[in-house]
Amino acid sequence: MSIRTGLVAQFRKPHGVVGALAGWVMANRPSNVERNRWTVGLLDVQPDDHVLEIGCGPGLSLAACVAKLGGGRVVGIDHSELMIVQAAKRNATALNEGTLALHTGGLDILPKLSLEFTKAFSVNVAQFFPDKVAAFRAMAEAIAPGGLMATTYQPRTPKPTKADALDMAQTFTAALEAAGFIELRTEYLAMRPAPVVCVLARKAQATVPLQGQTH
Ligand SMILES: C[S@@+](CC[C@H](N)C(=O)[O-])C[C@H]1O[C@@H](n2cnc3c(N)ncnc32)[C@H](O)[C@@H]1O
Repeated sequence: MSIRTGLVAQFRKPHGVVGALAGWVMANRPSNVERNRWTVGLLDVQPDDHVLEIGCGPGLSLAACVAKLGGGRVVGIDHSELMIVQAAKRNATALNEGTLALHTGGLDILPKLSLEFTKAFSVNVAQFFPDKVAAFRAMAEAIAPGGLMATTYQPRTPKPTKADALDMAQTFTAALEAAGFIELRTEYLAMRPAPVVCVLARKAQATVPLQGQTH
């Protein structure tokens, strides 16, 4: 395995000493901090929202969401136990007060969460999903009808370009549409060392059959 492949693996599922370092980078690198702040801003979290973050890493966005809540809840999931430990340390007060819940696991744990979410998001996670349509379908199951989802991506290739970011936004858009999401729009933020895209999408309202309708 090359050094680069090994490093990418640590950002896909951090573990051990190098994983702890990857978590520190995620929490402190200015462009990481900025892309998380930007994503939460696009979600326009309201005090009574129930928010889900998939792949919360060290928990920067969780803290930003908690700060906007009054009565609502935030749930963060990550399949790396190490990242859940870091997110818990960063958000100890919210965790103790019950505003925040954290779970170690992947998308398979979503059906076990007791909340229906009004907003859901991920930041530099969806590029790792091998089957993006299936992943977005699983997320849709956890979101309330009319709920909003934000999927953010910042390329971390050696010389990232705007085209790299927009290509991934197109991939997300196609998969989100195939998963049944509506009202899709792409936001773009020029940032150093790499631009960022966020695809926003809404879960359709449930359709209610007309009364008296036979077919
Ligand atoms: C590149 S890091 C981004 C972390 C954080 N969202 C941020 O922007 O700082 C990707 C994170 O997603 C998690 N992750 C990747 N695939 C996942 C999956 N299928 N289910 C849950 N967590 C996942 C990884 O463990 C890692 O913490």
